[in-house]
Amino acid sequence: MSEPVRYNLLVLISGNGSNLQAVIDACGQKPLENTRICRVISNKKDAYGLTRAKKAGIETTYHNVIAGGYKKRNLDDSSKARQEYDIDLANLIVQNNPKPDLVVCAGWMHILSPPFIDSLSAANIPIINLHPALRGQFDGHSAIERAWRAHQETGLEYTGVMIHYVISEVDRGTPIVTEKVSMNDVESLEALEQRIHNVEHRLIVEGTGKALAEIEGQRG
Ligand code: GRF
Repeated sequence: MSEPVRYNLLVLISGNGSNLQAVIDACGQKPLENTRICRVISNKKDAYGLTRAKKAGIETTYHNVIAGGYKKRNLDDSSKARQEYDIDLANLIVQNNPKPDLVVCAGWMHILSPPFIDSLSAANIPIINLHPALRGQFDGHSAIERAWRAHQETGLEYTGVMIHYVISEVDRGTPIVTEKVSMNDVESLEALEQRIHNVEHRLIVEGTGKALAEIEGQRG
């Protein structure tokens, strides 16, 4: 990396990590020319994204609500287990050295609760998320499959990809960058998934760059 590091990203993953890989590959050149990933945290032990991070020399953490004993300690109250899990996750992030400037949810499949969001907000660490749909279209999980089904059943022409700020309402934070994806000439769900992933891999870098530019503007 030619430029001194100015921004540290902490990336949350749950799976393959192809979007994490896109950010890894983009660090060191525009718009992430002075940016590095300081840590990757996964809630799934077998997430291939952890392998990608280790290959890139990035520190990793596995943080899981069951393996961490949160459920066992709160057998009668699963919401308390999740809250404790989220608060510990927030502390892992806020106390990381170096302190991250931005958290990027890249294929992160765990809804982040208000205590988590409030804790990061108090530490002035914005959170952005990649969602493979347009705002308000298919919030939550399996968005690509749901878009494909809507295309087949109702003729829906477009789905899309967005990078947005994370608030407590799932997938409803302010969009940073959005791109529509046509389904009209797509032959299968697999083909749509590939088309969506190709857009994701470009937008996650563009969206991260824009979020860092907003942080830069606030720092003056
Ligand atoms: C992506 O569509 C992401 O939006 C979804 O999981 C898919 C794979 O993401 N949450 P990745 O390969 O783990 O980055």
